[in-house]
Amino acid sequence: MTSTTPAPRPGSVALITGGTGGFGRALATKLREREVTVVLADLDSERNRQVAADLGCEFAVLDVTDRAANEALVARIEGDHGRLDAAYLNAGISAAKSDDVLDLDEFMRVVDIDLFGVVYGVAAARPAIKRAGGGAIVVTASLAGLSPMATDPGYSVAKGGAIAFVRSMAPRLAAEGTTISAICPGFADTAIIDRIRDQFTAAGFPVLTAEEVADAMVMAWGQAEPGAAYVIQPGVGTVPYKFKGVPSAKTATGETAVVPEALRPPSMR
Ligand SMILES: NC(=O)c1ccc[n+]([C@@H]2O[C@H](COP(=O)([O-])OP(=O)(O)OC[C@H]3O[C@@H](n4cnc5c(N)ncnc54)[C@H](O)[C@@H]3O)[C@@H](O)[C@H]2O)c1
Repeated sequence: MTSTTPAPRPGSVALITGGTGGFGRALATKLREREVTVVLADLDSERNRQVAADLGCEFAVLDVTDRAANEALVARIEGDHGRLDAAYLNAGISAAKSDDVLDLDEFMRVVDIDLFGVVYGVAAARPAIKRAGGGAIVVTASLAGLSPMATDPGYSVAKGGAIAFVRSMAPRLAAEGTTISAICPGFADTAIIDRIRDQFTAAGFPVLTAEEVADAMVMAWGQAEPGAAYVIQPGVGTVPYKFKGVPSAKTATGETAVVPEALRPPSMR
């Protein structure tokens, strides 16, 4: 794969977790149009298997909170297809209610799937993508990771954590040819908003289509900046979020202090 055409290129192999959901299906359709081999990983059900078959994709059973299962799946993909070029870590849930009770069991469940599922996915996919000569990891975060979501604190924590993880991992992954980025959609028309869709409709509040989000996911594979977080909003399109940065420490003489080289990972020296 030495073509200068931006990825995704025909013959590439991609994994999508939460792959039979709204974003996963829209993305799989676009990747299949580009002749990418797509493995849709999701919880086991007849419906999910059928969705994958209908899209011409392989189905893999995966609960993203199972660390060993993430690794076993990547090993299977490499064994079956010889490579893994891109991992879309997209599985996610939100809280079932939005009352003022902080349900800790539900909070932990959301963080387990939406944050630790991403961490395990990156750890599993990283060596395989490196062996393929580099590629992309695209994490489906959310606008709720960039601004507080008072109705679902666990979701906001998980998505904010996923964005911080993406930004922190970016230099070491870039050093081995892999670009990691996050996409941060506003509300979009998939099953995850079933509970609240009527409110949006009644209020005339615009929501994204899954296709708009999938376009951003395709873009992120070939064109993302390492560590970038892309906001996607109706009427705005896809724009990189501008992080403001934090004040640096100052030395006794008032100069900006630089973290000692020995404390930085090798990829940042
Ligand atoms: N739709 C929105 O408004 C919106 C906005 C911002 C971010 N997101 C994020 O987009 C991602 C995709 O969601 P969607 O909108 O397509 O909703 P969706 O509910 O259609 O899809 C989510 C998929 O994740 C799967 N999943 C849930 N738990 C899993 C687990 N433990 N292991 C493996 N798979 C699991 C589900 O089975 C489902 O197929 C999620 O991470 C979600 O948080 C959605």
